[in-house]
Amino acid sequence: MLVLGIETSCDETGLALYDSERGLVGNVLHSQADLHAEFGGVVPELASRDHIRKLIPLARVLFEETELQLSDLDAVAYTAGPGLMGALLVGASFGRSLAWSLGIPAQAVHHMEAHLLAPLMGRDHPPLPFVALLVSGGHTQLVEVTAIGTYELLGESLDDAAGEAFDKVAKMLDLGYPGGPKLAACAETGNPKRFRFPRPMTDRPGLDFSFSGLKTFTLNTVKDHQPLTNQDRADIARAFEEAVVDTLTIKCRRAIEQTGVQHLIMAGGVSANLRLRARLSDALAAKVHYAEPDLCTDNGAMIAFAGCQRLLAGQSAPLSITTRARWSLEELDSL
Ligand code: KG4
Ligand code: ZN
Repeated sequence: MLVLGIETSCDETGLALYDSERGLVGNVLHSQADLHAEFGGVVPELASRDHIRKLIPLARVLFEETELQLSDLDAVAYTAGPGLMGALLVGASFGRSLAWSLGIPAQAVHHMEAHLLAPLMGRDHPPLPFVALLVSGGHTQLVEVTAIGTYELLGESLDDAAGEAFDKVAKMLDLGYPGGPKLAACAETGNPKRFRFPRPMTDRPGLDFSFSGLKTFTLNTVKDHQPLTNQDRADIARAFEEAVVDTLTIKCRRAIEQTGVQHLIMAGGVSANLRLRARLSDALAAKVHYAEPDLCTDNGAMIAFAGCQRLLAGQSAPLSITTRARWSLEELDSL
């Protein structure tokens, strides 16, 4: 089954072709980072307009590169939520209408399920059951996965998501947008011994997270060291990154102990963070799996893959176009 995947939930326009026999056959992406950079964060209206501008030209590139035709498609999968409503509507209207015009099924994909399943696209396929650490710009969640589509939320952030905290701290340090990768690069030359930042909510039981106190602590440190030198920036970035990585690792260890599973996958933009990957692999009794770095952040490939799993199980979207800004993983149907 050849599936076109379309991702437009936030600031990346992503399209890909996934074949259930051959795997990923094409993947194109346009990042809006430059468009939003001058505002220091995503401007929803600009995001929607740019998706409109880029979707059709990108689709043309994808089909040219893969030497495939629209008539080769068996189905279309598009992100239906969670995300920015206007941005979601662009990809969903395009995807649903395209499938209708071709007379093929469509699948409305949950963006976080797509992140969660992305590591399963690779050769190092984790067996079920596993625990998933989902760390993106909008979500920080620990989920127990007993089957594809059967998700139990073990814990989540009560305030900022991990990626959001990375982005906000990068802004405090004038590192630019998008902050996560820039902060991680800056932290490379930081001295890990100079500051010790708090590990929020690790001193009490439970699997929930909170990053807003850590963000305030970081802001106070920034204010106490004005004007910042480049070394101050690197040391603060390092202390912040260490605190987030440690906190996530402690909670993952707890989730593994609580569920008794042997495998953990991590997914979402922050799972591209090399220090987090290394620490989790060292510190956990479970084997840790993650996607290739370019499949950790938003992309069309994970949407095509997740859609394909549901389409193969006989599920498909109705003709109406429905998008959801908020959507819990636990509401999804099992396969
Ligand atoms: O999954 P994603 O591309 O979009 C959402 O669904 O939100 O995640 C984007 C988030 C951003 O907050 C970005 O700063 C963060 O992932 N991120 C990183 C790294 N690469 C991306 N955070 C830390 N280290 C990285 N290397
Ligand atoms: Zn995402």
